[in-house]
Amino acid sequence: MTNLQDQYQRPLRDLRISVTDRCNFRCRYCMPAEVFGPDYAFLPSAKILSFDEIERLVTIFVSLGVKKIRITGGEPLLRRDLPTLIERIHQIEGVEDIALTTNGTLLKKYAEPLAKAGLSRVSVSLDSLDNERFFEMNGQRGKVSTVLEGIEKAAEAGLQVKINMVVQKGQNDQDIVAMARFFKEKQHILRFIEYMDVGNSNGWRLDDVVSKREILDQVQQFSSLQAIAPNYKGEVATRYQYQDKQGEIGVISSVTDSFCSTCSRARLSAEGTLYTCLFATAGTDLRELLRTGQDDAMIRQHIAHVWGDRTDRYSDERNEQTRAKRQSVKIEMSHIGG
Ligand code: GTP
Ligand code: 5AD
Ligand code: SF4
Ligand code: SF4
Repeated sequence: MTNLQDQYQRPLRDLRISVTDRCNFRCRYCMPAEVFGPDYAFLPSAKILSFDEIERLVTIFVSLGVKKIRITGGEPLLRRDLPTLIERIHQIEGVEDIALTTNGTLLKKYAEPLAKAGLSRVSVSLDSLDNERFFEMNGQRGKVSTVLEGIEKAAEAGLQVKINMVVQKGQNDQDIVAMARFFKEKQHILRFIEYMDVGNSNGWRLDDVVSKREILDQVQQFSSLQAIAPNYKGEVATRYQYQDKQGEIGVISSVTDSFCSTCSRARLSAEGTLYTCLFATAGTDLRELLRTGQDDAMIRQHIAHVWGDRTDRYSDERNEQTRAKRQSVKIEMSHIGG
């Protein structure tokens, strides 16, 4: 065991591995179709980490304290033979939990083999139960019913299911209550996600964010909520239980109530670059080390240095800035108005 910590005493516990940069959706807040069009240059397969390389890196990360693995993308189920990778990761001693974040369109086909391979949990993204609005948000690519069928199959296969809904003002904020009702009934945890300024292409504006406060106010129109303790230190979502204790929701509030102080997550891109923050502007190329014959000890040391030097707290900083901005606007307004 290691007591590796970054510059703010945060340990390394979670590794989020992207297995492909491709997706069959074009959600406006993530991969807008006008940017990710037919000519967009996705990674050629030679540049993408192989299962052997991923397995090797996971073993090294586990030796540095990682316990949770989350497979992401793009859409991870577009990666051929994904259950085989899950099976290989499942066999690594020290991996306690394997989860997958997916848009759900291919879950109907893969839920069963994924569960058999050792996957424990899935987070399925679904932004609306209204076909038209869902279509509008995912770039006219997927139907609500397909995702719901995938969710059903995942639950049948014994996977723990959570639903992720990114809330955007004027797009799907009218669906908050309907989604809460529906998934309370289905007994799946629904997490509302504040729209974030990830990447450079989604044209993010603070005005498009529906805040945690506003989301909770809306859900409380239908049932009052009680805050409950996190499942683990550094859990991304804040949890709330319904009054009748039948079910819970989560809110992921990286914009209005950030959670960097407990962030123990590292991210590995499909091409093998290590990022220590979701909002990082640069990363560390691990593929190069893997493909130039470096041994495990050397790669481990390299990763340990990167984590040891880590100072990322992007959402906290953004939060401080927006708060400062709001404050300065307020001062200015009262100065003029008063
Ligand atoms: P659990 O293990 O179930 O707690 O999963 P999770 O909530 O960490 O994973 P999931 O992939 O379902 O993430 C839900 C949302 O939280 C996504 O929109 C992520 O982009 C966002 N998120 C996850 N980790 C971070 C993080 O470190 N920082 C920020 N700002 N957002 C994050
Ligand atoms: N803001 C908030 N959440 C986002 N996701 C993708 N882009 C954004 C964004 N700009 C969510 C997806 C999925 C998870 C992996 O990240 O909806 O649930
Ligand atoms: Fe991005 Fe997920 Fe939407 Fe694909 S389904 S475009 S990866 S948010
Ligand atoms: Fe972690 Fe960066 Fe997200 Fe903060 S913004 S919680 S440091 S990934």
